[in-house]
Amino acid sequence: MSSPEKVEHSTTFGRETVTPHDRDRRMREVFHRLAPHYDRLCDMMTLGLHRGWRRELVSMVTLKKGQRLLDVAGGCGETAASFAGPDRQVIVLDSSLPMMEIGREQGRGEIDWVAAMARALPFPDESMDVVTISFGLRNVTFVGGTLREALRVLRRGGRFFCLEVSKPAGIVKPLHHAFARYVAPWLGMRVTRAPHAYDYFVESVLGFPGPEEIKDLMEHVGFVDVRYHSLSLGIACIHSGTKP
Ligand SMILES: C[S@@+](CC[C@H](N)C(=O)[O-])C[C@H]1O[C@@H](n2cnc3c(N)ncnc32)[C@H](O)[C@@H]1O
Repeated sequence: MSSPEKVEHSTTFGRETVTPHDRDRRMREVFHRLAPHYDRLCDMMTLGLHRGWRRELVSMVTLKKGQRLLDVAGGCGETAASFAGPDRQVIVLDSSLPMMEIGREQGRGEIDWVAAMARALPFPDESMDVVTISFGLRNVTFVGGTLREALRVLRRGGRFFCLEVSKPAGIVKPLHHAFARYVAPWLGMRVTRAPHAYDYFVESVLGFPGPEEIKDLMEHVGFVDVRYHSLSLGIACIHSGTKP
């Protein structure tokens, strides 16, 4: 198992080793291209399972009247839309304008959209009641920095939830591996018509740390009461933690 320091930040993009600056730039390019197809791709890449996983995440979150929720790397706002309502503030933060534009066009209303990087949240300390991130942590370059920023903006007792793909074991492992390595990039290419548009996906899924490592990193940056549970035989996982 890796030490928390080793999963602090990602140095790869696909099979290449890249600088943080280059990785961020390439990530923005990927989502620029994928944005118009994102919802469809999400269904295809997870065989529709992401819907149930999102419902599970939403069922774990309590957001009271007047409270604020920040969805980091929130993309088109699919997860955030489930929390939105007139008596609370729901913010999607993402580094990709095209992704957020799609969300706005789809009329995912009552959401505030903020263009920024997950490692430098433009919000004061202790200004959020809940922070969520779904399918975002494996894409950010600074994993530890993103978790630290989530912790910083949460009020004391505020809750953090992370939904992400994970590492299945047993019989599902080889099937998942084959799907991620061969089927998913092919589907990505068919949908986007851009060769290699989804190449990074394989390594980001298969190379992402396991749930124990993410738990260790969350504790390392300062979250308490850190737990996780696996979904769909370990294909995805939800971590949660509290700001002490
Ligand atoms: C796979 S999508 C997930 C979108 C959304 N959270 C969902 O559940 O569908 C990953 C998102 O992370 C965003 N992203 C990647 N790196 C980021 C960073 N460093 N800061 C903020 N957003 C980032 C991308 O622009 C993209 O919208």
